[in-house]
Amino acid sequence: MMRKLMMAAAMLATTALTAHADDVKEVQMLHWWTSGGEAAALNVLKQDLATEGYTWKDVPVAGGGGDAAMTALKAMVAAGNPPTASQMLGYTVLDYAEAGKMGDLTETAVAEGWDKAVPAALQKFAVYDGKWVAAPVNVHSVNWLWINKAVMDKIGGTEPKTFDDFIALLDKAKAAGVTPLALGGQNWQEATMFDSVVLSTGGPEFYKKAFNDLDEDALKSDTMKKSFDNLAKLKTYVDPNFSGRDWNLATAMVINGDALVQVMGDWAKGEFVAAKKVPGTDFLCYRFPGTDGSVIYNSDMFGMFDVPDDRKAAQIALAKATLSKSFQSAFNVVKGSVPARTDVPDTDFDACGKKGIADLKAANEGGTLFGSFAQGYGAPPAVANAYKDVVSKFVHGQITSSDQAVDELVKAIDDAK
Ligand code: BGC
Repeated sequence: MMRKLMMAAAMLATTALTAHADDVKEVQMLHWWTSGGEAAALNVLKQDLATEGYTWKDVPVAGGGGDAAMTALKAMVAAGNPPTASQMLGYTVLDYAEAGKMGDLTETAVAEGWDKAVPAALQKFAVYDGKWVAAPVNVHSVNWLWINKAVMDKIGGTEPKTFDDFIALLDKAKAAGVTPLALGGQNWQEATMFDSVVLSTGGPEFYKKAFNDLDEDALKSDTMKKSFDNLAKLKTYVDPNFSGRDWNLATAMVINGDALVQVMGDWAKGEFVAAKKVPGTDFLCYRFPGTDGSVIYNSDMFGMFDVPDDRKAAQIALAKATLSKSFQSAFNVVKGSVPARTDVPDTDFDACGKKGIADLKAANEGGTLFGSFAQGYGAPPAVANAYKDVVSKFVHGQITSSDQAVDELVKAIDDAK
């Protein structure tokens, strides 16, 4: 009986995984990868799928952080016309899964052994109710500094190990007449930087309590006030034209030596790579001062929608390609992120990538791997948006003190929950 059941299951799996002549040989993907580095990384995927005979229907929605893309996705899904897959972050995947909109990749996941290779921190968001609903493509990390090496040499700077060191370094750049801090004044960029400031100011346990557990005492603590004080200090090193600037233009300021440093997720490295810059020679990657040993992560997931049967083979091909070891290496080398599997060799990665892989492993094993609040891995989208809004109002002077910022943060999170 058992044997018969197993054979039947195997046959079913084969049927589902086999392509049919009338299958749609097209992958339609919604994403916000429109910068130079991002487009180069996406090309790796397009080419992989092309070799398997799939065409690519691109649905790009510009806007770092993905807010505009998520609005477009909502409209497509509401119209009953979901893409084959969409780039998505953490809790957004779970929201769509809960609403019953996602497909089921479990057969493919089992056949390919994803559960053994993908870290639990990602499975928490890619698996809903026991079913794989998304394919994680990478792990990004936000607590990084990206520094122009020539500018650093010129001002005689060294790696800042504490927040005070960082301020001293920014002062040196200012004294030399270089813009110290390249920032794009958009809410998601400001909040992404603030994630690091909070980890640096309060330490790992505080970050987790405040930004993953949403513990009210932590959110309204003096440590959170101090974090806003530190953010206010950083703001004084930004050039006057920062409002609304795209993140990759801020990265370009560092690449071109117009600014010393950017605090940004490691997608910034994708821009350096696209500009043929080499770590250690042209640029430096350090952990945000005071956060070494911890990793604030996000992961781009390809959320897989419940598409009509004739589009399922393409979806499975996309999922398989995404989690293949060779793709995980080739894509992430270009993207600036690290593999979403723990069994991919770091051979082809540059020094920053190798550090990223080692840091992720250590943080995962040591309990210091935390979801980025700004990047959708701390709390559901409504709460994350409330957070981004408060941080941005503080940076742009609509909230005028750290006391007020903390009050508004607690209230906004409470309302959004
Ligand atoms: C994504 C990255 C992307 C960045 C800027 C982040 O939310 O995780 O893949 O490069 O936004 O667009």
